[in-house]
Amino acid sequence: MESLFITVEGTDGAGKSTQIEYLKEFLQTKEFTVTITREPGGTRISEKIRNIILDKNNIEMSDRTEALLYAASRAQHVEETIVPALRRGDIVICDRFVDSSMVYQGRGRSLGYEAVKIINDFATGQLEPDLTILFDVKPEISLKRINAKKKGDRLEREKLSFHQEVHNGYRDLAKMFPNRIIRIDASRSVKQIRKDIELIIENLLSTKENT
Ligand code: TYD
Repeated sequence: MESLFITVEGTDGAGKSTQIEYLKEFLQTKEFTVTITREPGGTRISEKIRNIILDKNNIEMSDRTEALLYAASRAQHVEETIVPALRRGDIVICDRFVDSSMVYQGRGRSLGYEAVKIINDFATGQLEPDLTILFDVKPEISLKRINAKKKGDRLEREKLSFHQEVHNGYRDLAKMFPNRIIRIDASRSVKQIRKDIELIIENLLSTKENT
């Protein structure tokens, strides 16, 4: 089988990281080589950009600067990590990708989907995931999970209405790209979500094998 590029998306606190770990184990038991990575970050340079973006003190950052920094971090990540891993034939699982910029900057910051898409097409050379798993949970619920754990970075500290826009943005994208984005109800138990994801991946693997 050739390589696969899977992205995982959702509002802050939707529970992505736990499930990414499970998914990694699941694929490794099937003898796949898995590369797990995340955005913003994933390379030395991208992690530096991440620190600038998420720094709680950078309150004066303009929305366009924010969008361009995410895209810059992504450009490095695609070239240095994602594309080489795909060329090796790995299954790449990336925690957030262009869809995050579409909803956080495009909708949350009101820059518009079109503008965000243009800068990201430039940044990624139009690389698109084979599959995107969208963790769908109301921000009222997911934000409580974060607040219980930590103080939150610059984006997480945004008010509830911002996160509601992000959540609605993800629902827009799921409608715009029904073949690529699979929405799962992330308000349920860890065990149920894990089962759902394993099923989705089994289906994807069998369609890939038959093509
Ligand atoms: P992170 O701590 O990685 O959040 P999470 O664990 O929820 O993934 O912080 C990333 C933050 O950056 C998160 O609030 C979402 C936001 N973000 C954007 O606004 N645009 C983007 O393109 C990306 C990748 C992330």
